[in-house]
Order: sequence, then C-alpha cells, then structure tokens
Amino acid sequence: MSVEFDFYSDDFQNDPGSKYAEMLDRCPFHKNEEQGWYAVFRHSDIMNIVRDNEQFSVRTGPGTNYADENHAPVLVSADPPLHGKQKKAIAPAFNPKLIAAMEEPIRKFTAECLDRMMELKTCDLMEELADPLPMFVICELLDLPFEDFPMLRGWVDVMAGSTLQRGDTMEGDRLDKLMKIMGYFQPLVEAKIAKDEAGEELGEDIISMLVKGRIDGERIPTSHILSFAQFLLVAGAATTTVTIGSFFHLMMEHPDQWEKLKANPELTLPAIEETLRHDSPVHGLFRTNNEAMELGQYHLEPDTKIGLMWASGNLDPEVFEDPLAFDITRDPKTLRKHLTFGHGLHVCIGSPLARLEVRVVVEEFLKRFDGMERAGPMVPYPYPTLHGPYKLPVKLIPKVI
Ligand code: HEM
Repeated sequence: MSVEFDFYSDDFQNDPGSKYAEMLDRCPFHKNEEQGWYAVFRHSDIMNIVRDNEQFSVRTGPGTNYADENHAPVLVSADPPLHGKQKKAIAPAFNPKLIAAMEEPIRKFTAECLDRMMELKTCDLMEELADPLPMFVICELLDLPFEDFPMLRGWVDVMAGSTLQRGDTMEGDRLDKLMKIMGYFQPLVEAKIAKDEAGEELGEDIISMLVKGRIDGERIPTSHILSFAQFLLVAGAATTTVTIGSFFHLMMEHPDQWEKLKANPELTLPAIEETLRHDSPVHGLFRTNNEAMELGQYHLEPDTKIGLMWASGNLDPEVFEDPLAFDITRDPKTLRKHLTFGHGLHVCIGSPLARLEVRVVVEEFLKRFDGMERAGPMVPYPYPTLHGPYKLPVKLIPKVI
C-alpha cells in the first residue's frame, strides 16, 4: 500500500513522529519518486539491513547523493576490509580513558556557558550552550583553535544540509564550502605529516593518530584524513548540538518529566537515552544494495539508495510501548534498543563522548537552575538531515538556595 510521504515538506519536518507512526503502521517501505531513494521504517527491517554487510554497502556514502570516484572512503563510507583497518587506526583516539579524561574540560566549558546564561537570564540555549560545547569538544579532538568556531559552525550547517539534500549531486554553495573545509584542514594535516617525517612527537589528537597510523604498512592517504576530519565536524558536533537542544525542548514540552528528573537525578542517564530515542538527531542514513532485490512491494536494481530511518525505528510499537510518549522511566533494557547511534559494523564510535557531553550539561544545569520557560518559539533545524532545535529561546529560572 502506498501512502503519501514527503520527507522534505515542512509538515513532516515539524512533526516527524506522527508521520513515522503512520508509515510504520501502513507503509513500512516507501519510494521517494522525485529523488529515487527508498526509505525503510520498521526497527526489524532496519536491523536486518545493518546486519547484512555482504548485500548492503556504504561505498556510495551515507547520504542521498552518490559519492563520486574522487570521494575518499572513510569509516562511515568504507566497506570491509578497509573499514576494519581504518577503525583500528582511529580507535585509540576513542579509547575510554581518553574519553573519560575529557570530562574535566567539558565540565569547565559547560560551567562557563551556564554561568554566562545565568547572567543573561533570557537567551537562545543553542547559541549559548548547545552549539559551542560540541564544537569545543571537536576542536579538542582534532587539535583546532576554538577561535575558529564561528567559521567552522557555518561550514557544519552547509555540510549537514548536504547529506539528505534534494538532488543526487553536491553542487554550488555546498561544494564551495566543502572545498573551503578541505582547504582549512590541508595545511594542518600537512604540518603534522612533516613533523612525523622529521621524527618529531605528535599529540594524541585524532589528526595526529591518523598521521601516525599505518594501513598495511602504508601511510593513510592525506585525502582520507581530510575527509574524516570534515566528516567529524558534522557527525560529532551538529548531532550532539541537536541532542542537547532536544533534551531541553522535550523537558519544556513535558514538565512532569522535568519534575521527575529533578526529584530523581539518578534518572539523568535514562532521560538522555529517552531523548535520543524519542527525537533521534539523525533521521536516517543510507546503504546501497550490491545485488538486485525485493524491498517490500518494490523491485530494486543494484546500487539503489536505501534510507535506514533510525528516527522511525525508534518509534516502532513492536519494540517500544506507547512509542510517541516521552517517558524517562522506560524499561532500560528496551530503551537500549534505540537505533539513534546505528547498529552493527558502523555503530557510532563517538556515542560515549556524545553521552558524556549531554550528561555533564544536565548535571551542571541541575546545580544552577530550577527550570526554564520558553522565551519564544523553538525554530527547528533547517536542514533535513538533522532533527531538533536550531534556535531555542529560553528564560532561565535560577535555583533558590
Ligand atoms: C548524539 C550524537 C550522535 C549521533 C546521533 C550519531 C549518530 C551516528 C550514527 C547513526 C552512525 C551510524 C552510521 C551508519 O550506520 O551509517 C554514526 C557513526 C559514526 N559516528 Fe556518530 N553520532 C553522534 C555523535 C558522534 C560523535 C561525538 C562522534 C565523534 C566525535 C561521532 C563519530 C562517528 C563516526 C566516526 C562514525 C562512523 C563509524 C563507522 O562507520 O564505523 N559521532 N553516528
């Protein structure tokens, strides 16, 4: 049965939950006729696809646009065996000890943001906290000067827009910005390569790890390092930004849950997981089939783009009871089944870091504030890849001590 589903419409983007519920119930596979890509909505169908890496490839990239032959495959767009080799080279940068060591700088940065917000009283929570914190973390990870934040922020928006853009090529402004990002990273990477070649010590940041890393005894190509660095700007920063925004947006929508959390701070982690489940920051990412196949009512030729709609799988009533409800006391075992970080081979390597950032934000917020009220309407993220607030004007209510 075919049901109308316009991924790019404002109606859908403003309220994806109810449309996903309809698709889950009536049309678990859908073809976007204009763009030619297919969407998979059910949790079990998504799981079957992510588990089958023989049939489903990531080589054409995670978005709707087909990566061209100049594209450098990195992790999220690399199939085995290259994927495994790259992951081995990058894994040391994400080891639990290094992530845990980031808690202190993250807490300090968060405290500074919140103290400034305390003085402002009314502000855009995205601008003051949710935007800068994840970018600060990425700058630390990649050894970039945080003063470059405003410029990097602008690029992230454009890159975030390109993953699920209309049309299957990257052009105009997007291509121009991609070139600028590459131009920004190139001298940084080359300087580290020169240091490495001169036998000098490199740091523990991700670019240094990749410069030091070897795959089959060879240096990782510079183009792959550049591609990975630009991918992290969107994958690591914008996603976490949106999650922080969604947490506060959902709490203002559901004051009973906020009261519950304040009375039971041990619910902080489940509240973060429920935020991630209820409002997945990434609607979906793509696979490409190697062999012709049937997808529900559709026949797919090889190399078709298939969107795995994580956000929809998270609302599947077969897995989550009363899925549209926002309930921070859900059974933790079931809650863990959400697909927000993907699953299987390409599961998000940065999820412990994202969770750490949001946890610190919630803990520091609870220390200072009793709550918040809306100071204007929430503006949703204007690019369809990401789902969550872009602007979140709030009036903060300090704790009375
Ligand atoms: C709430 C925040 C985040 C969300 C929702 C998110 C979501 C995802 C998803 C859905 C995937 C799976 C891609 C696929 O299967 O096609 C993924 C992969 C990935 N993420 Fe995240 N991510 C987040 C934060 C981060 C952070 C903070 C970093 C790093 C600093 C990061 C780095 C990566 C990398 C490198 C991959 C590729 C892993 C692979 O292919 O092996 N992510 N992410």
